[in-house]
Amino acid sequence: MEKTLEKILKEHEEKEGNLISILQGIQDTYGYIPHEAVHWFSKRLNIPASRFFGVITFYSQFHLNPRGKNIISVCCGTACHVKGGSKIVERLQRDLNLNSAGETTKDGEITLEVVRCVGACSIAPVVIVNNRVHPDMTAEDTSKLIKKFKKEKSYAGR
Ligand code: FES
Repeated sequence: MEKTLEKILKEHEEKEGNLISILQGIQDTYGYIPHEAVHWFSKRLNIPASRFFGVITFYSQFHLNPRGKNIISVCCGTACHVKGGSKIVERLQRDLNLNSAGETTKDGEITLEVVRCVGACSIAPVVIVNNRVHPDMTAEDTSKLIKKFKKEKSYAGR
């Protein structure tokens, strides 16, 4: 890991305000930001790790845990919540054997995420599977959709 982190540091050390670009470099490399990488950069750049974690937790684009090959995002903003967003999350947790949103299935295939308003309230509740928006979803619809995708093994690009 150290060699890879050195490479990321070299690529980003010249840039102004490089903390975010370093984090992007780590995430591009690993698909998430390992805690060890944060502590390595913290020591190396003499920047408190808390500053890195502050940025990571502020921006939803950064992830501290490995993510699945496929991302299912359920909107639980106000409009989606009122129309059953939370029921969709509960159903998917059951179907996918996950204890909570933010987890990834054991086979590494699917990560379930809860997101805030994605700006599509008129078609709430909204479920996004690998960047494809599915409008007016119910828990049952979502369950069927995921079962179909799993059967066809065709999550990507949907
Ligand atoms: S609350 Fe879900 S799209 Fe706005």
